[in-house]
Amino acid sequence: MNVGKFIVFEGIDGAGKTTQLKLLLNRLEKANVTYHATKEPTEGVVGQLIRQVLNKQLELDEKTMAALFLADRFHHIQAETDGMLKHLHLGKHVICDRYYLSSYAYHSAFLPLEWVIACNAPCAKLLRPDVIFFLDLPPTMSLARLTKTRAHLDLYETKERLTLVHQQYHAAISRVKSEENIILLDATETEEAIAEKIWAVVNELG
Ligand code: TYD
Repeated sequence: MNVGKFIVFEGIDGAGKTTQLKLLLNRLEKANVTYHATKEPTEGVVGQLIRQVLNKQLELDEKTMAALFLADRFHHIQAETDGMLKHLHLGKHVICDRYYLSSYAYHSAFLPLEWVIACNAPCAKLLRPDVIFFLDLPPTMSLARLTKTRAHLDLYETKERLTLVHQQYHAAISRVKSEENIILLDATETEEAIAEKIWAVVNELG
């Protein structure tokens, strides 16, 4: 069966994931490669609940939030009509903005990393990314970008939180690097230079 590749973008808020994701989609289109672009949190019911907390309309504790992201992910992987596995089995590449490495980084700021990894183990078993692109940007630079482009900042978009999450990303990457294919990209480089590197890796995936 022709199964597509699962490609994930990761980074702290403002690291340039969205831009790089779009550049990759443009290239896939030009190369006539079929794809499904998606993100976490999703637009589904659980994802909508998560967004209410991120927008500070609702308050939930960290453990409950970690569990909600997990529930959102299970649905995202397995949903019968629009799940990521479904798209992959139709032969499409699935390009996802954030996946469980985000959970490792964002939730391990307040909960034990091993707990977050253990909770997500069934997801890794169901669907492990073929490649994870981590856009590495210093937190001060990401905050500068965010304040320039956004009218309101989300719950996680403070300097302290971004610094902590950046640290936790690196801790999580060290912890899982033997089982995951993670490509670190210097997000201070030009958009074009980063896009070239991403394209070279995607082409290698076949
Ligand atoms: P979103 O508005 O989609 O941000 P971005 O465009 O930067 O991806 O909000 C996603 C937020 O949710 C972001 O701050 C990271 C956080 N998050 C978690 O805390 N845990 C997770 O498992 C995921 C996927 C995201």
